[in-house]
Amino acid sequence: MDVEALETQKPLSTSSSISGFDPIISATNVVKQYGLVTALSGLNLTVMPGEIYGLLGPNGAGKSTMIKIINGLIEPTSGIVKVLGHNPSSEPVEVKSSIGYVSENSTLYESLSPRDFFEFVASVRKLDPKLANERVARLATAFGLNEYYDSPIATLSMGTKQKVSIIAALMHEPPLLLLDEPLNGLDAKSSRILKDLISFQTEKKRGAVLFSTHIMEIAEHICTRIGIIYQGKIVAEGSLDELRRAASGQQVGSTQTLEEVFLKLTHEEEEIAETVRTLREAFYVTK
Ligand SMILES: Nc1ncnc2c1ncn2[C@@H]1O[C@H](COP(=O)(O)OP(=O)(O)O)[C@@H](O)[C@H]1O
Ligand SMILES: [Mg+2]
Repeated sequence: MDVEALETQKPLSTSSSISGFDPIISATNVVKQYGLVTALSGLNLTVMPGEIYGLLGPNGAGKSTMIKIINGLIEPTSGIVKVLGHNPSSEPVEVKSSIGYVSENSTLYESLSPRDFFEFVASVRKLDPKLANERVARLATAFGLNEYYDSPIATLSMGTKQKVSIIAALMHEPPLLLLDEPLNGLDAKSSRILKDLISFQTEKKRGAVLFSTHIMEIAEHICTRIGIIYQGKIVAEGSLDELRRAASGQQVGSTQTLEEVFLKLTHEEEEIAETVRTLREAFYVTK
C-alpha cells in the first residue's frame, strides 16, 4: 500500500468481472523513457488468473518502473497496458480498486499510527469498518504488529513499516497483488507468512500476484512463472524447468539453480567474471 496509490481511490460504480480466460495483466510493447534513460524497451507481459508471476532481474532492470505503470502511477512512453481490461492511465479508479500494491519504498503517513492508517485506508476504500477491522486484526496478529499498533509510523523499523504496507494492501481483498520487492526488511517469520499469503491469493479467488525480486531463492520457491527482466525487456519466461532448458540450450552443460540460469540468460556471468578480474587486478595482483 502506498499513499500515492490511494490518492485517486474512489468507490467503484461497476465491479470488475474476472473470467477464467481473460488476463489480469496484459502489457504489449511497453516503452518507458526517463529523458535519455530507457527504463523499458518493449516489454511484453501477460499474467493470468491463478498465476504467481515473479519478475526477476538485477538492479535497474526496470522492475519498479513496470509495476508503477501497471498501477497507473506513471505513464508509459508507448505501448498498451490493461489490468482486467482497464487502462491504468485513463481508468485509474477501476484499476486501483483491483490492485493491492506494496511499493519498493513505501511512503506512509508517518505521523499516523498503524491503527489510524488502517482506518484511513478502510474509509478511502469504502470498506465495511467491522469486516476491515477483523481482517486487519488477524493480519496484524499474524505479522506480530500488535505491540506497535498505536506508535507513530515514523518510529517503526523498516521491516515493521513494510508489514503495515502489506496489511494495507490486503485490506480490500484485491484480485491482483502487485508487490515490489515485498520481502525487503522482513524477518524470516514474516517472510514465511507473506509467502503463504501470496499462495492463498491465487488459491482462493482466482486472483493473481505479480511481484518483483532480485533474489533467486524467492522466485524459485513460490512462482508459477518467472520472467527474467534485463535492460527493460523480458529476456526469458517460463517455469523454472523451462528456463533451465532455455539456459542449457545456450551453453553446453547442465544448469541447476535459478541463479545459474539467470546469470546465463542475462549474460551477467561474463560481466561478473570481468568485474572480478578487474577488481583482482586493481587490488590483489602485485606487479
Ligand atoms: N524517476 C526516474 N528518473 C530517471 N531515471 C529513472 C527513474 N526511475 C527509474 N529510472 C531509471 O530507470 C531504470 C530502471 O529503474 P527501475 O525500474 O527502478 O529498476 P529496478 O526496479 O529493476 O531496479 C534505471 O536505469 C533507473 O536508474
Ligand atoms: Mg526496483
